[in-house]
Amino acid sequence: MILVTGGAGFIGANFIIDWLAASDEPVLNLDALTYAGNLESLATLAGDKRHVFVQGDIGDRALLDRLLAEHQPRAIVHFAAESHVDRSIHGPGAFIHTNVQGTFTLLEAVRGYWSALEGERRSGFRFHHVSTDEVYGSLGPGDAAFTETHAFEPNSPYSASKAASDHLVRAWHHTYGLPVLTTNCSNNYGPFHFPEKLIPLMIVNGLAGKPLPVYGDGQQVRDWLYVKDHTSAIRTVLAGGRVGETYNVGGWNEKPNIEIVHSVCALLDEMKPDAAGPYARLITHVTDRPGHDRRYAVDARKLERELGWRPAETFDSGIRNTVRWYLDHADWVAHVQSGAYRDWVSTNYVQRSAT
Ligand code: NAD
Ligand code: DAU
Repeated sequence: MILVTGGAGFIGANFIIDWLAASDEPVLNLDALTYAGNLESLATLAGDKRHVFVQGDIGDRALLDRLLAEHQPRAIVHFAAESHVDRSIHGPGAFIHTNVQGTFTLLEAVRGYWSALEGERRSGFRFHHVSTDEVYGSLGPGDAAFTETHAFEPNSPYSASKAASDHLVRAWHHTYGLPVLTTNCSNNYGPFHFPEKLIPLMIVNGLAGKPLPVYGDGQQVRDWLYVKDHTSAIRTVLAGGRVGETYNVGGWNEKPNIEIVHSVCALLDEMKPDAAGPYARLITHVTDRPGHDRRYAVDARKLERELGWRPAETFDSGIRNTVRWYLDHADWVAHVQSGAYRDWVSTNYVQRSAT
């Protein structure tokens, strides 16, 4: 089996669903269920014995040692993190706890486990660290896209904590020989995205007739990738990536925020017209994010050259699927907004372990 950390979050949940659709190899999902962890996103796997969920913190060494000894995973895919830049500005402590200290504890536990493996189990073992393009800092309008050799220039507490975790992963390979892989990906969007992030926030606020808050002039550029393309990139790197290497993952799809917001509004106008008028009437420019990175762009040619990966989804198809998904999953949205999704553990999993 493989051990996935943070599998109840946005990308982790998509990864597990896609993994189990493509293979029968079981997944042990370790997630602390912070506000961002939502087991309702994995509801389609309820009763599926290939998915084993454990609620716990990646900073809990005793728990990690026990899980590794019991389940003997052949690989770790490490998603667990605090992931929201705005939250990192308001409260950086949790980002240091999980992204830095938590990754350190996980690396140490995995090093102990891996060191005791023998033969092919040892040589075939992989630790896949899921990271972000934000570690590279911010680009000017004419700068070339980030390559894997771009300097690390993180600007927010979030990106600094992720950069620290990338450095730890690199050092655990260089010093101890731990067989690691790192992917640095651009902005994801798609199903199960928590509506604190730009695209899902614009969809749910629009549907509720609330303002659509655009930071500053809205001309900040991100490189958007449909989440299913990220999960396929991770599967590709896990299967064939060169140990110790980092691979950038991106959508070749740079767009300013304001254009993204207008795209969402246009799709809502088409799919769920509002009698009060076009959704774009709700766009409201608000005070900018402190230290806001102006532009990210990812050069993902290494991954294409070495492993043949390219995104399958265009932005037009991906954003259309995403808006449709939110319209079709009003219950998921309502439970997130009311906080009821947090009851899913007691209504489903706690009952299950009791019987
Ligand atoms: P998310 O915030 O939606 O999910 C994070 C998950 O980690 C949650 O389920 C949460 O409960 C869990 N978690 C948090 N702290 C934990 C801890 N101490 N122990 C165990 N579990 C814990 O994040 P996401 O958007 O799914 O991102 C997943 C990973 O991908 C992160 O490492 C992030 O840095 C990286 N990433 C995200 C994006 C993006 O656009 N969302 C892009 C590139 C890279
Ligand atoms: O680049 C990868 C990163 O993308 C990941 O590592 C992070 O985990 C993920 O959260 C994301 O970070 P961003 O800060 O780019 O994502 P967010 O959705 O928060 O914001 C996208 C852009 O939209 C950013 O320029 C800020 C802007 N924004 C965001 C919100 C929430 C707004 O203008 N208004 C908003 O209300």
